[in-house]
Amino acid sequence: MRAGGIEVADTKSSPTDVVTAADRAAERLLRERLLGARPEDGFLGEEGDRVEGTSGVTWVVDPIDGTVNYLYGKAQYAVSVAARVEGRSVAGAVVQPETGTVFTATLGGGAYRDGQRLAVRDVVPVAQALVHTGFGYEAEVRARQATAVAALLPRVRDIRRPGSCALDLCALAAGECDAYVEEGPHLWDHAAAGLVATEAGARVEVLDPGTGLDLVVATPTGAFGDFAAVLDPCGFTGAGTGNTSA
Ligand code: IPD
Repeated sequence: MRAGGIEVADTKSSPTDVVTAADRAAERLLRERLLGARPEDGFLGEEGDRVEGTSGVTWVVDPIDGTVNYLYGKAQYAVSVAARVEGRSVAGAVVQPETGTVFTATLGGGAYRDGQRLAVRDVVPVAQALVHTGFGYEAEVRARQATAVAALLPRVRDIRRPGSCALDLCALAAGECDAYVEEGPHLWDHAAAGLVATEAGARVEVLDPGTGLDLVVATPTGAFGDFAAVLDPCGFTGAGTGNTSA
C-alpha cells in the first residue's frame, strides 16, 4: 500500500493525528487472522476494533506504530502485536517492515531480535544516558512535554525522538539507548515492546501522572530509581510517586 502512495483517511485527536487506509487494512488483516485461528480470544486494536473474548487471552494490536513516519516515507514504523492474559503481556512481536527486523518476547522466555537474544546496556549515570522520548498529538499535551524535555536535556547525554514508541522500547531492549520516557502512549503502543524490553532486562513502568494519560518510563532495571528521581523535578509529573496505573 505504501508503494502505491499514501493518503490520509481520517484524523483522530488532532489534525496531525492521522489514520491511513493501511492502518485500517493492517488492523483488519490481523484481527481476521488472529480471531480466525483463535475465535474465543479477545481483540483490541488502535483503530477501534474491540472484540470481547471468552478464553482469557486478548490480542492488543497497533497496526502501524509511527504512522507519521509511515506517511513521510521514513523507515521508523512498526507493527505491534501482543497477547495479554489478566492484564499482562505474555507474548509480543514488533516488526519493522522496512528492514524486516522482528523483535519477539515471551514472558519468562527472553527477548530476541531476528532470533538473537537481546540484553539492555549496562547501567550508566543519568548524566550519561541517551534518552528516547516522544510527543503526543494534542497541543496542550505537547506544550507540557516540551517543558519537561527542555528541563531533562541538560541533565542527560542527549535526547532522541525517533517516532515509534514500540521501536523506542525495542531500542532499549537492544542496548541502543539507556532510557525511554513519554507521557501519553496507549496500551497498543507498548504492550508488545514493553515485554521485549522487560525480558531484555529493563524495568518498564506505566505510571499515573494525574493528567488522564499514562506516563511510560523504562530503563535497565538497576537504573530506574535514579532516572525516575530526575524526571519528577523536570515536570514529568508522577514519575517519582510510584503510582502505577497498569
Ligand atoms: C505514536 C508513536 C509516537 C509516540 C506517540 C504515539 P502512532 O503512535 O508511538 O512515537 O510519540 O505517543 O501515539 O500514533 O504512530 O500509532
